[in-house]
Amino acid sequence: MNTVAIKFDAFEDLKNEECQERILRAKKALGNKIIILGHHYQNETVYRHADLTGDSLKLAKYVDQLEAKYIVFLGVHFMAEVANILSRPDQITVLPDLSAGCSMADMANLAKVERTYRELSKVLDFNQTITPITYINSAADLKAFCGEHGGIVCTSTNAPKILNWALQQKEKVLFFPDQHLGRWTGYQAGISLDEMPIWDPDLPLGGLDEKTISKAKVLLWKGHCAVHQMFRPEHIKIFRDKYPDGKVISHPESPFEVCENSDFVGSTEYILNTIKEAKPNTQWLVGTELNLVNRLADEMKAEGKLVKFMSHIVCECSTMARIDPQHLAWTLENILNDKPVNIIEVPKKEADLARLSLDRMLQVN
Ligand code: 13P
Ligand code: SF4
Repeated sequence: MNTVAIKFDAFEDLKNEECQERILRAKKALGNKIIILGHHYQNETVYRHADLTGDSLKLAKYVDQLEAKYIVFLGVHFMAEVANILSRPDQITVLPDLSAGCSMADMANLAKVERTYRELSKVLDFNQTITPITYINSAADLKAFCGEHGGIVCTSTNAPKILNWALQQKEKVLFFPDQHLGRWTGYQAGISLDEMPIWDPDLPLGGLDEKTISKAKVLLWKGHCAVHQMFRPEHIKIFRDKYPDGKVISHPESPFEVCENSDFVGSTEYILNTIKEAKPNTQWLVGTELNLVNRLADEMKAEGKLVKFMSHIVCECSTMARIDPQHLAWTLENILNDKPVNIIEVPKKEADLARLSLDRMLQVN
């Protein structure tokens, strides 16, 4: 047995086929010592090894039922952090490539959120007036901020229920980091667009005046997902012209005009289920990440369903794609040698506060 962890260099140049064999061998040897969770955006080359798959909410909900000592997360950093926060202290969460982040999550950080808190406190009593909601696509310290300030976490599945909960607590919401999910959810709840101004964290008072802030119901953080930003109403028009009976389904991280022109809007799990449950020989235009759409398109061919990706530009989530067979094989073999690498461990104080905001979410949904 090795006394030190094997370095990634030994796996970097391995062919995918060899990695596949080594992953299967390591998984078999580890048995129920590990469980692999996989997000729907993962590439097929690793997704096939996931024991459980889902959207962010479904994966988070699995965690407290897991017996395995090692939770290997095929997804991005914030998802592994959530698994670590919700798991038992004796469990170890591993992310095969630590550079698998989320560019949207990086659009908000604690320094900016705390500055926002100070700025808003100049014009109103933040703790009495505002419930902060952080999208689960955010770092653990932002979830901790929400825990500490009576706030909550939401996902793309439960955002409507969470917004409703938040507005029952206080009169306003600060929603970060995704303006699009916040806007679409607020709009669906009957809040007008001019009651949901954009808060630019890099400008004094978010770039707003006091009157706009006092009128606002939801302050939308100026953040977005670069992948979903690519989708446009023009793509929908081209599809509808060609397939007048076709249906359009989008993720709520897509721009407002795309959601507005879609027949269905929902999380990755919702998108998968809606198309899988649809009648045979139907046509679908899908506004979400490419790996999910390609997999679904292949699976649905047998039922004569046409599943098309919304953009003509290839927009894969490049950070999700960092989890490849080489990193998975490397991670599993190190676990097999009792030398786990890429452990995700949120510091205790931060994890306890973050857990508060996650538990609030799990109680609402
Ligand atoms: P879901 O929770 O819908 O899977 O979304 C996560 C995500 O990152 C979408 O870009
Ligand atoms: Fe983040 Fe967008 Fe990738 Fe989802 S698709 S993980 S929001 S960068």
